Amino acid sequence: MNNDAATSSGERWKVLVTGATGRVGFPIARALAERHQVFGMARCQGAGDAERLSAAGITPLVADLEGFDPTTLPDGLTHVFHAAALIGPAARSDWQRCFEVNAQASGRLAAACAGIHGFVYCSTGSAYAYQGQRPICEDDPPGVHLGNYSLSKIAGEAVVRFAAREHGVPLTIIRIFSTYGPEGGAPVDRLRRIVAGKDVVLHPDSPNNYNPIYEDDYVRLGIRALEVASLDPVVVNWAGSETVSAEDYCAYLGELVGKQARIRYDVTAPWPLWPDVTRMHEVLGRTQIPWQEGMRRIALQCKTSSRDGALPTETLP
Ligand SMILES: NC(=O)c1ccc[n+]([C@@H]2O[C@H](COP(=O)([O-])OP(=O)(O)OC[C@H]3O[C@@H](n4cnc5c(N)ncnc54)[C@H](OP(=O)(O)O)[C@@H]3O)[C@@H](O)[C@H]2O)c1
Repeated sequence: MNNDAATSSGERWKVLVTGATGRVGFPIARALAERHQVFGMARCQGAGDAERLSAAGITPLVADLEGFDPTTLPDGLTHVFHAAALIGPAARSDWQRCFEVNAQASGRLAAACAGIHGFVYCSTGSAYAYQGQRPICEDDPPGVHLGNYSLSKIAGEAVVRFAAREHGVPLTIIRIFSTYGPEGGAPVDRLRRIVAGKDVVLHPDSPNNYNPIYEDDYVRLGIRALEVASLDPVVVNWAGSETVSAEDYCAYLGELVGKQARIRYDVTAPWPLWPDVTRMHEVLGRTQIPWQEGMRRIALQCKTSSRDGALPTETLP
């Protein structure tokens, strides 16, 4: 990939965002497109996906990462925010495809990015082993929270690290915990269940602590992650600055929408993902939207919207 046009911070970037139609990728690509040239890659499986990208000033690259040839990417890319991944039922049902998209293709992409200024690999808090009632630090051991998906992301980190080192690519690995906002996320999924009068199913080791991160904050911290990428890779938990239990935020959401949240504990529920954000505060900064404000916004979106599907369906448990 020719990147003679690479720019330093403050100049106009030429950015590839993969997973550009997704919950994380779309708002970040849209914000980047206000100042930079942005290419958004996805298969565009949803109706109107390519048009939604174009309307946000993002040039659509309709492609499947499975078997993708990165030499076909636009010349002169300066940054890559790699958010595309196989998630949910598709990851559960086909482990080989899951490893191909989340690990091998990610490595091929990083290997093709020699000389760019920053590559962000979206990993996950689901790549850690459970540590019980304490926040998880970056040095804690890997674990299998969500089957193939977790395994493929652990492999993906290793493959991307290898490729970045071999090809001199400054790298940030963000381990994403729980995003939420207009595009959806686990708190939105739980809100939908509360509104529908269904149980919210949680892990029995209560309280189920999380640090949910609202869209405004994850857009800002996502762009920051591109800026701090380093040849000595930055590995950082990526979450809200505040801890709140799912029990507490569901009770609060219930009050906001006038329905009581019914919690049911089940040993088969995924364990809670509670991050230590000390390193995030040092390298990326703090988040600014208090959890009550974020929850108010999704509850308002739920109450004011008559459009079916205005609160998107969550695909992560
Ligand atoms: N949101 C969270 O709370 C959270 C938590 C932990 C980790 N993460 C990580 O953050 C990243 C983004 O997650 P998300 O929540 O935004 O997921 P998402 O909403 O499901 O979006 C996934 C994106 O990847 C694209 N994609 C999937 N398979 C693809 C393929 N084979 N080739 C090209 N594009 C493909 C999808 O578009 P098409 O289907 O149209 O191709 C979509 O744009 C992922 O790497 C995920 O593992 C997110």
